[in-house]
Amino acid sequence: MPRAERGYRCSACGWTAVAYVGRCAGCQAWNTLEPFAEAPRSGPAGRRPAAAAPARLLRLDEVEGDTAARHATRIPEFDRVLGGGIVPGSLVLVGGDPGIGKSTLMLQAAAALAGQGLRVACVCGEESPRQVRMRAARLGVAGAPIDLIPEPGIEAALAAAESAGVDVLIVDSIQAVTVEGLESRAGGPAQLAEAGARLLAFAKGTGTATLVTGHVTKSGDVAGPRLLEHLVDVVLYFESAEGGVLRLLRAVKNRFGATDELGLFEMTGAGLQSVENPGGLLLAPHDPAASGCAVTAVMEGSRPLAVEVQALAVPTALAAPRRIAAGIEPARLHLLLAVLARRGGIPSGALDIAASVSGGLRIRDTAADLAVCLALASAIHDRPLPRGMAFLGEVALSGALRPVHQLSRRLAELARLGLEAAVVPPGAPALEGLRLLRAASLAEVLEAAGLSRL
Ligand code: TYD
Ligand code: MG
Repeated sequence: MPRAERGYRCSACGWTAVAYVGRCAGCQAWNTLEPFAEAPRSGPAGRRPAAAAPARLLRLDEVEGDTAARHATRIPEFDRVLGGGIVPGSLVLVGGDPGIGKSTLMLQAAAALAGQGLRVACVCGEESPRQVRMRAARLGVAGAPIDLIPEPGIEAALAAAESAGVDVLIVDSIQAVTVEGLESRAGGPAQLAEAGARLLAFAKGTGTATLVTGHVTKSGDVAGPRLLEHLVDVVLYFESAEGGVLRLLRAVKNRFGATDELGLFEMTGAGLQSVENPGGLLLAPHDPAASGCAVTAVMEGSRPLAVEVQALAVPTALAAPRRIAAGIEPARLHLLLAVLARRGGIPSGALDIAASVSGGLRIRDTAADLAVCLALASAIHDRPLPRGMAFLGEVALSGALRPVHQLSRRLAELARLGLEAAVVPPGAPALEGLRLLRAASLAEVLEAAGLSRL
């Protein structure tokens, strides 16, 4: 006997329950369960259901459309992260803290795209058209031919966009739009999931490049269901680097490009400026007498960036000393402290240690290992490292230095910034303008830097 399916389903993750509960056991979200009822399945088990109209088959080589054609925004750093521009028919999510610059970037992109003759419309759910106009005046693009859709209802907004035949649609923000016919509040999980699904259907159905902004929660996710991230083609996050004017735009997911590209912007009085050549911008102004500072170069996507690892060590008053890491994986910091103790003879069991990276960058590149170790050793000895010297190399558990990929590009960047010498793993090819000191192990480097065993 077929069973009628009814009960409660989580609008965020799809978990179902037979009775109502306040909290979803699947994703732990509160108040996301909604009643559902499905018609009973007909026919005896094992038999195929009555045939629906067969879906149409499509040969891959007969599919129309050239995915290589992108709308380049001509905002260099935005295009870099997008992988060259926005693909028509794609849905792009730009997440970030409130006030980080999402609306500013969207309006600048809208103006740039409209300036190329594309039809651009903005659903401005968060700001009135007057406020958008004021922002546009500040950005110097008040004359751009952008259509504003001051309509929070998603159906009406999409219908307007479709009848206008827009090439690019911007929705600012996903939390501010409402889905007609859904009881829950705007910005709630059910609304977000539904609005996301409608935007996706619109983007795919009409071939419109669709950009949507979303605020993030404290934990760093785009607020609401994770569903949104799976749904969209591209997820970008906007972050601020340590409260400075620098803004980092990171691709977390990109169906049409690399996810390791980083976009750098500076927030100025007239909007976001691309920082194509950060040079020494990420390097803190250097105090040669300060201990615990070591310069290195990390690759962010296709670009080498010079950064400084900073460390501080103080005697601890706790049984378990504290380890504070900003921009460095805590697990990596623990590992390197262990290598430093065992292979370099510099134990840190009685010290509280803090380590961070200049410019608010998060480093994932193991080529920075040697610089982290040297910054830590310098902090523990409270003795500065030689001036004008950079450190590159992955540190193995044995204390051996491992080669670094793209070494010559990193070294070229360091030379360009005026560094004089670099400690590198064995076998590194020579480079004009930079004195290379090849070392096979961490112990060798510590010895040469005068940071011997404690
Ligand atoms: P905004 O784009 O409104 O942020 P979001 O949409 O992510 O919430 O950015 C607002 C911040 O940027 C605000 O603090 C003011 C600042 N800002 C500038 O410094 N210069 C500018 O030209 C603009 C438009 C904003
Ligand atoms: Mg905004």
